[in-house]
Amino acid sequence: MSASNYGTIVKVAGPLVVAKGIPGARMYDVVKVSEKNLIGEIIEIHSEESYIQVYEDTSGLGPGEPVVSTGHPLAAELGPGLIESIYDGIQRPLQKLQEASGEYISRGLEVPALNREKLWVFKPLKQKGDAVSPGTIVGEVDETVLIKHKIMVPPGVEGKIISITNGKHTIEETVCVVETDKGPVNISMLQKWPVRVSRPYRQRIAPDMPLITGQRVVDAFFPIAKGGTACVPGPFGSGKTVIQHQLAKWADAEIVIFIGCGERGNEMTDVLIEFPELKDPKSGQPLMKRTVLIANTSNMPVAAREASIYTGITIAEYFRDMGYSVALMGDSTSRWAEALREMSGRLEEMPGEEGYPAYLGTRLASFYERAGRVICQGDDSRQGALTVIGAVSPPGGDLSEPVTQNTLRVVKVFWGLEAKLAYARHFPAISWLNSYSLYTDIVDEYLSEAVNQLWPGLRKEAMRILQVESELEEIVRLVGIEALSRKERLIMETAKSIREDFLQQNSFDPDDTYTSMKKQFLLLKLVLAFYYESEKIIEKDFNIGDLLSLKVREAIARAKYVSENELSHFETIENELREKIAEIGHKAQEISGKES
Ligand SMILES: Nc1ncnc2c1ncn2[C@@H]1O[C@H](COP(=O)(O)OP(=O)(O)OP(=O)(O)O)[C@@H](O)[C@H]1O
Ligand SMILES: [Mg+2]
Repeated sequence: MSASNYGTIVKVAGPLVVAKGIPGARMYDVVKVSEKNLIGEIIEIHSEESYIQVYEDTSGLGPGEPVVSTGHPLAAELGPGLIESIYDGIQRPLQKLQEASGEYISRGLEVPALNREKLWVFKPLKQKGDAVSPGTIVGEVDETVLIKHKIMVPPGVEGKIISITNGKHTIEETVCVVETDKGPVNISMLQKWPVRVSRPYRQRIAPDMPLITGQRVVDAFFPIAKGGTACVPGPFGSGKTVIQHQLAKWADAEIVIFIGCGERGNEMTDVLIEFPELKDPKSGQPLMKRTVLIANTSNMPVAAREASIYTGITIAEYFRDMGYSVALMGDSTSRWAEALREMSGRLEEMPGEEGYPAYLGTRLASFYERAGRVICQGDDSRQGALTVIGAVSPPGGDLSEPVTQNTLRVVKVFWGLEAKLAYARHFPAISWLNSYSLYTDIVDEYLSEAVNQLWPGLRKEAMRILQVESELEEIVRLVGIEALSRKERLIMETAKSIREDFLQQNSFDPDDTYTSMKKQFLLLKLVLAFYYESEKIIEKDFNIGDLLSLKVREAIARAKYVSENELSHFETIENELREKIAEIGHKAQEISGKES
């Protein structure tokens, strides 16, 4: 480095380095710090001084060491090879890093995000003479057995194809040449995009269909739309990670981006070990064949955690642009917010609530706003969707804390996990009273077409019964169950059945882990049939115990384990239920008939 083209460190404070005199310093440009070449990003500039968040351990650095700017913002590499990758927060492949340096990642290592040597078979989908513009798909690559990677014309390139290849290439080789106003432009399979800027699309469109997850409490009560946003706040051990894994496995998204932000090392090791072992239930292939994993292990500095959600969402947008339905999970965004808080503290910014910076809310909003359903750029009006689901870990489960509150302001679905439910082993521990979804209307409309027109009515009735139960519980607590009328007893029993036979779902049971919408409908209809049929006879004179102890109710309790290819069982059970309840009604009539 010559004296004219580098700045010098004046101060080091943990992950924050202050340097003066960096030539060409600009906000958000990536810099190389010291002879060790540590990667950092300029996050604040005061006249001559640049404040740099460094993504690697800064111990041993000191004033006087050189800093140079790369002149480029932090960018993600986009191209074949993304799927199945496991990256750190700034898209360095973890396995490669570990191979190069062992368990503790040594500093200043430069490992490209995407393999430069691997040959991919490029299949052209356009030909010489075709007009192309940004987003036009010119060819595709079988990236994994599950995913076709579409090669798109990068932003800013418009014209006519003058040549296109067919065959094996590395991601840096030219596969297509486009004649533009400014002359020929070579297109390769590799694109770069600055992670803090959202990728362009042609038009945003309103979500109109659910992301089916196979998780009953989610699909039936608090559904999320494709392209929607949801958050899962929950105290320690309440099931945040299990639900995110369930969604990664089962949600009908084609691509999954999983960002693991753990505070404890073992938590992340779990993700790194568990995730690659998960199977995609639909194809039987490893789930990684349609997944990109971003993992912030505990031996990485906080700044990399701050960057990780941007790296993740940029990769997600890129697959959305190909026309895929993408689901991104962040577990947990609280750890991300803590990284933001730490950097803000180092910058000596005025702290807002609980020490978080005042811009916590805007940062969270601009992250979730990158979700959505869009018409992609290009010539074929294809649609893509990016659904974002963030876990939140409020300390002590207290939802009034800033991360939860700011998240709730932007997301449309709230799945509130409760310690009380987890403790009682009611899983998923999603509260049916406090949670909400702002997509229920559009999902109702969709499901009454796609599944059954009775769907919205059943869903509303089930929710109503659970509401009434919570009111009646108060009375029972005060004066005992005997104080309830028979109608009220029936409500209580039905509510219990909705909770236990419908809402409770065991992620680890092969038949219960996923429920199709068809089966969800039949199950809810069966559970409510007990209520509707009993209501018909409730005014008659019979012993309520006979109704509650009907043997067919055991079949209702087991109905969730009925396999997806034996759905005709539901009708059998429902018929028996009708018969048995009618029998009780007839007997009651006889008795009262005799008495009069
Ligand atoms: N749907 C479910 N079915 C069965 N068991 C579940 C389910 N959800 C959670 N559990 C049980 O609860 C345990 C804790 O869940 P999980 O690890 O997801 O909690 P968490 O909220 O992510 O915890 P942490 O705060 O430590 O990150 C699981 O190991 C599992 O035993
Ligand atoms: Mg967890």
